Parts: sequence; C-alpha cells; structure tokens
Amino acid sequence: MTGARAVLDIVTGTWRAQALHAAVVLRLPDLVAEGCVTGADLAAAAGAAPDPVVRLMRLLVVLGVVEGDDHAGYRLTPVGELLRTGVPGSMRDLCLLYGDESHRAWGAVVSAVRTGRAGFEVAFGHTLHEHLAEDPAAGEKFLRAMNAGSEFFADLPDAFDFGARHTVTDLAGGSGLLLSTVLCAHPHLRGVLFDREHMVATAAKHLAAAVEPDRYDVVPGDLFRSVPAGSDVYLLSRVLQDWDDEDCVALLSNVRRAMTHPDARLLVVERVIDGSAVLPLLFDLHLLVMAGGRERTLPDYRAVLAAAGLRLESVRELALETSLLVAVRGDDR
Ligand SMILES: C[S@@+](CC[C@H](N)C(=O)[O-])C[C@H]1O[C@@H](n2cnc3c(N)ncnc32)[C@H](O)[C@@H]1O
Repeated sequence: MTGARAVLDIVTGTWRAQALHAAVVLRLPDLVAEGCVTGADLAAAAGAAPDPVVRLMRLLVVLGVVEGDDHAGYRLTPVGELLRTGVPGSMRDLCLLYGDESHRAWGAVVSAVRTGRAGFEVAFGHTLHEHLAEDPAAGEKFLRAMNAGSEFFADLPDAFDFGARHTVTDLAGGSGLLLSTVLCAHPHLRGVLFDREHMVATAAKHLAAAVEPDRYDVVPGDLFRSVPAGSDVYLLSRVLQDWDDEDCVALLSNVRRAMTHPDARLLVVERVIDGSAVLPLLFDLHLLVMAGGRERTLPDYRAVLAAAGLRLESVRELALETSLLVAVRGDDR
C-alpha cells in the first residue's frame, strides 16, 4: 500500500462509520431481513430516496455488511446480521450512539487534544454525565450502546472463581447486564447494583426480567461519597476509564473502605493499553473526547490501585481486547 493510499484509508474512516450509521438509522439491515431486497423496496420502506439508497447499499456490499446487488437482491452478511434490532449480540445501538453523540463530540477533538477538556462539553455545552442526568432518554440510549459493545461480559463468570463467594456488588453497574450475567451463571450468588439515581431505573427493569427478585438489590448512590460495604466481590466495569487519576484514587479509596472482608476482591474490567493493540488506543482518545477520561497501561492501574490501598493480584484477557484486573486489599500480602 502506498503512503497516499494509507492516508486516504485513515481519513475516510469516518465516512465508513457515518455510512453505516445512516444504514442503521434507516433500518436497512432490519428491512433486508424482513424481505426488502432491492434499492427501490428498501427506499420505499425506509421513506428515503431510491437513488441514494442504491448508492449506500453498493458501498455496504464493499464494506462487507451485505452481499448481492440491486438486480439479484441484497442479503445480510454475518456483519450485517449484527446490525439488526434485537438479535442476540446486536451492535445496532452502538452504531446509533457512535454515529450521533460520539461523532459530534469527536468533532471537537482538536480542542480536546489542545486543552484536555472533553470534546463532548464543547459540542454539547455540558458534560456527558450531566447530559445523562438531564435526559432519561439519553441515559437509556447510552446504556443500550454500552450493552451493544459488551461481548466480553459473557467471559466474566468463568474468568474469576465465584464458587466460594456469596455477594457481588456491581459499582456504576449501568444497565445491570453484567450483574445479571454473573448472577445467572452462579445461582448461589446475591447481587447489588449500584449507580446514580437517574440511571438505576433501566437496571431495575432489566434485573426484574432476568433474575429472581430475592437475589438482588438496586441501590442508588454516588461512588465519590460512599459505596455499599461488606460485599465479597466488587465489580467496576468501564468506570475508571471515565475519570482522571485523582478521581480514580478517590473512588477506589471508597471501594477499599467498603471491602471490609479481608478476602474481598475488586474486579476491574477495562481495555489495557499494551502499546500494540489498536482498540485500547482508539478508546483512549474516545474517552478523552467523550468524558475527559483515559485508558491506562498496567503500571498505571497498579499505581492508582496502590494509591487507594489496593494491590493488583492478577490479569486475564477477555473478548474484544478487554482485560479483567483482580485487586485485593493492599494489606493482604
Ligand atoms: C461507561 S458506563 C459503564 C456501565 C457498566 N459498568 C458497563 O460496563 O456497562 C459508566 C457508569 O458510571 C455511572 N456513574 C458515573 N458517575 C457515577 C457516580 N458518581 N456514582 C455512581 N455511578 C456513576 C454512570 O451512570 C454509568 O452507568
């Protein structure tokens, strides 16, 4: 590949993402699955103009989302299947957030890199967390997108030995999907879902549908004030990524205080920067742009954990370049 071609491939990356976003907003993958297989049928069903739909579809063929053509008809590839509504593993909701709010925040990436302040604040006039607090629909959309990028949740029940544990508290647990995944895999466990007051309704609804009512509690609160004490296991999935080191140490110190059992474990799920994998590096900038947050290296995690009185005990790889970091109380040596 020439240098010029490599530059073109990089700078047109957002065009690919935005084309996919348009397809998902127009429900083209759903419509293909429902039997609309020509550009004209798709355009009619989507309420769009036929010529641009045909042009979008022929790009989607080259991107590997659909196969076929306008004469023979289009079919979804395995990639296209993942863009349908409501199918197992669907990533449609991720496309909807990344192509809209995230894309607008990325529009302020130059300012974010210059100042270290989240591009989201520049684009929206308030922080991501204020945005989620002010608009319940935005909160639900965000949590649906988080779920749509969480293939690695399924790895967690087997990546840690929950056998001798009794209680699991998922801190800033978002939609409740991770907690329900762990509780369903280990029927002897009880769980606590902890998140901000304005976010817990979604989790409560999800847990009510997935787990027996006497096996969990939903507790609203603020990680920076205090954390429910006495759990055997604490989960912190995709939370430290949103905060700078000082905030991480503050919230981890609250977790450490809550770990009253000497044998308690903190399970941190994050993408760890190891220098070569591209996803953690992309998400590192994405977190700067969205929340002023960051991805970290293993030494970075060791340092913030140690500053909060915790010690990194082990690391395991999960799906999608994500890692499980297990931490213990720093006095347990
Ligand atoms: C990136 S999401 C991760 C959600 C979930 N753990 C997951 O992996 O899908 C971050 C979560 O942190 C929660 N959060 C942010 N600030 C918080 C605070 N001060 N106290 C408790 N939860 C908070 C948000 O409401 C959101 O659910």
